Formats: sequence, C-alpha cells, structure tokens
Amino acid sequence: MTIWCPDLAGRPGPAYLDLVEAIGSAVASGELRAGERLPPQREIAHRLGISLSTVTRAYSEAIRRGFVEGEVGRGTFVRHALRLKDGPAAELGEVSESGAGGGEIDLSWNLPLPGSAEKALARTLSDLARERGLGVLLDQRPGRTSAGHEDAGAAWIETLGLSAAGRAVVLSSGSQHGIFAALLALTKPGQTILVEELTYAPVLAMARHLGLEVLPLRMDAQGIRPASLDAQCRASGAKLLYVMPVLQTPTAATMGEARLEEVARLAAAHDLAILEDDVFGFLPRERPAPLASLAPERTIYVASTSKSLSPGLRVGYLSTPLRFEAALRAAVALSTWMPAPLMAEIATRWIEDGTAERLNEEQRQEAEARQAIAREILAGHAFVAAPSGFHLWLTLPKRWSPAGFEAMARSRGVKIRGSQSFAVWPDKAPPAVRLCLGRELSRERVATGLQRIAGLFEEPADEAAFIV
Ligand SMILES: Cc1ncc(COP(=O)(O)O)c(C=O)c1O
Repeated sequence: MTIWCPDLAGRPGPAYLDLVEAIGSAVASGELRAGERLPPQREIAHRLGISLSTVTRAYSEAIRRGFVEGEVGRGTFVRHALRLKDGPAAELGEVSESGAGGGEIDLSWNLPLPGSAEKALARTLSDLARERGLGVLLDQRPGRTSAGHEDAGAAWIETLGLSAAGRAVVLSSGSQHGIFAALLALTKPGQTILVEELTYAPVLAMARHLGLEVLPLRMDAQGIRPASLDAQCRASGAKLLYVMPVLQTPTAATMGEARLEEVARLAAAHDLAILEDDVFGFLPRERPAPLASLAPERTIYVASTSKSLSPGLRVGYLSTPLRFEAALRAAVALSTWMPAPLMAEIATRWIEDGTAERLNEEQRQEAEARQAIAREILAGHAFVAAPSGFHLWLTLPKRWSPAGFEAMARSRGVKIRGSQSFAVWPDKAPPAVRLCLGRELSRERVATGLQRIAGLFEEPADEAAFIV
C-alpha cells in the first residue's frame, strides 16, 4: 500500500501551514478519502525532512479546520465530509484565518455566532443515533407536527413572557417562513398591511409578491408612534400590523410598557390583527412582556431558533390564538407541507435539556462583549443599541446619504446596510446605518470594522456619499 505524502516543494511556507493546506487540498480533491487514516506523524516528518513537532502542529491545525479528526493513540482520520464546504460558515472560517485586514469584514448580516452549537449538535445526533424508532422523523404528515415539538415551543415562548393558555403553537421552517405563512393565512391580495417605516426588508418583498399594499408607520425612539398607527388605521382600514417591539430591525428600538399598552389598545379599537416578530427577544436580560400578552386574541407571535440557537436549524414557532390556528396550519402545509421533524426534534431536545438556555446565554455574553467594544470605538457618535443586542443603529451627520456611506464603507472593506435597505420609502430613509456585530467570528475583526467605520467620519467624503 502506498503511503500518502504530499509534495511541499514550491509552497511558500511556513512548513506546518504548507502541510495543513496540502491535507486540505487532498481531502477536497478526494485524493484522501473519508475515513482514511493519515500516515503516522513520524513517517510524514521523516519523508518530508521536517521536525515531528511541525507535523504535530499541522495535524492539530488540520483537526481545528475540520479536514480530519483524531484522538491520541488512535490516529488521525479524514472526516466524513459534509457536502457544505462552500457554506457561509466555511467562508467565514477562511476569512478569519487571514486575520484582521484580510477579506471583507461583514457587519451586514444579523446572525448569531456559531458558539458551542456545533458541539451540542454532535452530542444530540449521537444520542439520536443510539435510539430506536427514528423512522417517525422521516414520516410526512402534511400540515401536522408533533405535539411534543409544539409543546417545547410553547414552553420556550413562556420563558419569553407569553402564556400558552388558550393558544396553539404552529411550527414553521424558521421565522421567515412563519411570517410568510401568517401573511398567507391572514391576508388577501389587494389588502393593506401596516409596518414600521423602517422594517425587516423581506417582509416588504413578501407583501409585494402577495399583492399587498404596505403603509409605513412613523417611529420614534420606542418604535411605532401611536398617533401614526391611529391615523393610518383610520385612513386605510388596514387589518394587519407587522411589528418588532423588542430590538427592532434595523433601529434597535425597544418599546416600553406604556407604548405596548397603547399599541394594544389601538389594535383593539381598530380590530387590527398583529404579527409580532420577536426573533431577538431572547437577548435582553430585562424586557417587557410580548405585545401578544397584552393582545392575545389578535396577535400571532413569532419566535425562532435561528438567532438564539443556530441559523441553520430552521425552526420557527408561531404562537397563535385558536381562531387563526387552522388557517396558519393550512398556510404552512401549502408552503412547505411540514417543517423538517428532525430539526424540530433537535430544537425540542435543546429546549428540554437546557442546551437552548445555555446557547442563548452564550449569545448574550458575546453580544455584551461586542457592544462594549462598539461603545468604546463609537464613543462620541450617536447610536442606539441594547447592551446585549446583536445590532446597533448609527446616525450619520445629516448631509450623508445612507447608501453613499454604505458604499464608502464597502470600499474600505466593511459590509454594512444603510437605512434605505429597510425603508418602505427608500428615498425618505433617514441618515443612519445598521451595524451587526454577530456575524464575524472574532471580536478583533468586529473592532477593526468599527474602527474603519468611525474613521469614515473623519475623512473627506466622496461626492457620491452626500445627499445633493
Ligand atoms: C427581524 C427578523 N425577523 C425574521 C428573520 C428571519 O429569521 P429566520 O432565520 O428564523 O427565518 C430575521 C432574520 O434575519 C430577522 O432579522
């Protein structure tokens, strides 16, 4: 049997990195196959004429990068590769390898960090693999999900302050899908929905595709202004409000209790259904109770695992008053038959065994550390942020155009989103940008990105960055 041994001639060095890259290329090309054992370290050291410690360092790095796995005494084996080598996490991994200054810094996606979710997944999958009766996770029951999965969702939502009494939980494939299903269930083409004037942009696209009119509500530091809600209800006869009361996207605003009560009162007065998006609601250490708890009979409340546990888990929970339940289940069935039971099973176990709360706490702590970095770097600038939020909303001097500032940041290697991306009427978007602190793997890169953004305020701006 021939022993695999790379040719490192012509590689730039250092030797240990050359060897890591050679292992990675051999795995990617199939030269080293899944499950195959790497040659003993001594053998490689001998053949390549490098020290044993260099090989040991390279093998450890190859394990860290996920090409191979190993245990002392058992050897090092090529991992049974996931077919997602080009997924976003892999891209980020590559970017972070090059350290600050290499690759674009991404402050544009509002996503959580991987944290220890991968370890939890490995443990849960290996638990599952030892159990009997996994076939139920492969069954298709259109429009139906397991009561156990729904109960776990209800229990989790209760921890966020919304009682399960008199309500049902309907599962979706993430909250984006849940929002879409709720719009399908509660609206008809030609109807009008109300949204915050700066809102989660995909909802605007969904509304367009569903033939819905969208009317923006004016906002202040606490989100929707009640006077605007009242006026637009009177003017339009709208029947649905989509709203994010806690850590609003993009403004990071959170409604106080009085504001929530006022919104609930107006919704009742105008017989308005509410679609409450609370995907970031797990982050604040103290938060008001969900709007749904003040208007339970008219509010569909959306939570999901994607910000709190892992974005790839794709489990959304819709807590609904019973009168909307059948329509919601029909909308979920129409749009996806049923969310993947395997995903819901994983989320359920994590909720039940405390993993979910542990992962949430990890996210909170990392968000707190990153917000502290942001406070230091952006000191003196006007911005809104919660101490444990993933994003912040930075106000620009009046003359700046948000799209121009976004473009200037991009030219300095930092991706952000200007207010125009979230505005119902982009040409009326205020001079502000959203910065997301959770997507980059390292705090250092977040700090570098923020320093470059802060630096832009000092520079003479490109003409294009100004409103003319
Ligand atoms: C405010 C808001 N709502 C909903 C979603 C959709 O999340 P999910 O991944 O659960 O579909 C996002 C994702 O970015 C979001 O920011």
